[in-house]
Amino acid sequence: MRNLSEANITEAVIQTFEGTPDERLKEIMASLVKHLHAFVREVNLTEDEWLAGIQFLTATGQLCDDRRQEFILLSDTLGVTTLKDIINNRKPPGATEYTILGPFHRTNAPELPFNADLAEDMQGEPVFVKGRVLGPNGDPIAHATLDVWQSDAEGHYDLQMPDLQGTALRAVFRADTDGQFAFRTIKPSFYPIPYDGPVGQMLIATQRHPYRPAHIHFIVSADGYRSVTTELFAEGDPYLDSDAVFGVRGSLIVPFVRHESAREAAQFNLSTPFYTVDYNFVLEPT
Ligand SMILES: [Fe+2]
Repeated sequence: MRNLSEANITEAVIQTFEGTPDERLKEIMASLVKHLHAFVREVNLTEDEWLAGIQFLTATGQLCDDRRQEFILLSDTLGVTTLKDIINNRKPPGATEYTILGPFHRTNAPELPFNADLAEDMQGEPVFVKGRVLGPNGDPIAHATLDVWQSDAEGHYDLQMPDLQGTALRAVFRADTDGQFAFRTIKPSFYPIPYDGPVGQMLIATQRHPYRPAHIHFIVSADGYRSVTTELFAEGDPYLDSDAVFGVRGSLIVPFVRHESAREAAQFNLSTPFYTVDYNFVLEPT
């Protein structure tokens, strides 16, 4: 400890964790120090850069409260959240892929019947969403639950609408005995993540945009199966290849098929033009 050098300081710090009773904490602290030191060495971190980093992390923490979590946003925009999600949600081939939960899920969504309108009287292009919830062999999962939430046509969630009483564009649906579900809604829009804080400054400095491609969020669950948190992305969205939080998976991009026929629209109780989305969720047994 008295003759520390660039060559031996990392090992000296790691050794201070030797007496940690919690083995997992010991492993994490040793690895964190190993990688942090490697980073400082690799970039030859200067005094000013070290201070700028401290100030950035301080500002990130100062912006956090019970409505805003800038550290999660930082994790999301650096791909750490998605890497953690991929590691913790490995799926067998064919099972619907997991993707980011995001900050707009709420547990108080109303339960709506089959075919109900998620959007009620909100403005937007009408969409009819239907599909089935299936097991790995294509067998229907009766009475699976679909927790659904999305933005409006301007990219705002109900939590971002200060004049709104209650909830909007979120509901829980239940599949029928054949695993089928259906609901009406409006087409969601792409939207920016909050970029008025340190994360936004990072995006600007690195010439990245803050947008997420349009999507509908789902948590699909059923007894005896692992529930999946996922999103369906609108095919053709301009941000599919540059999602600010790295949430897109190829298997989750679906066509929003446009229809012009008034006769078809009447059949779905929608106005023209309208879109249809058809997607089967596949769950893995527990
Ligand atoms: Fe979202």
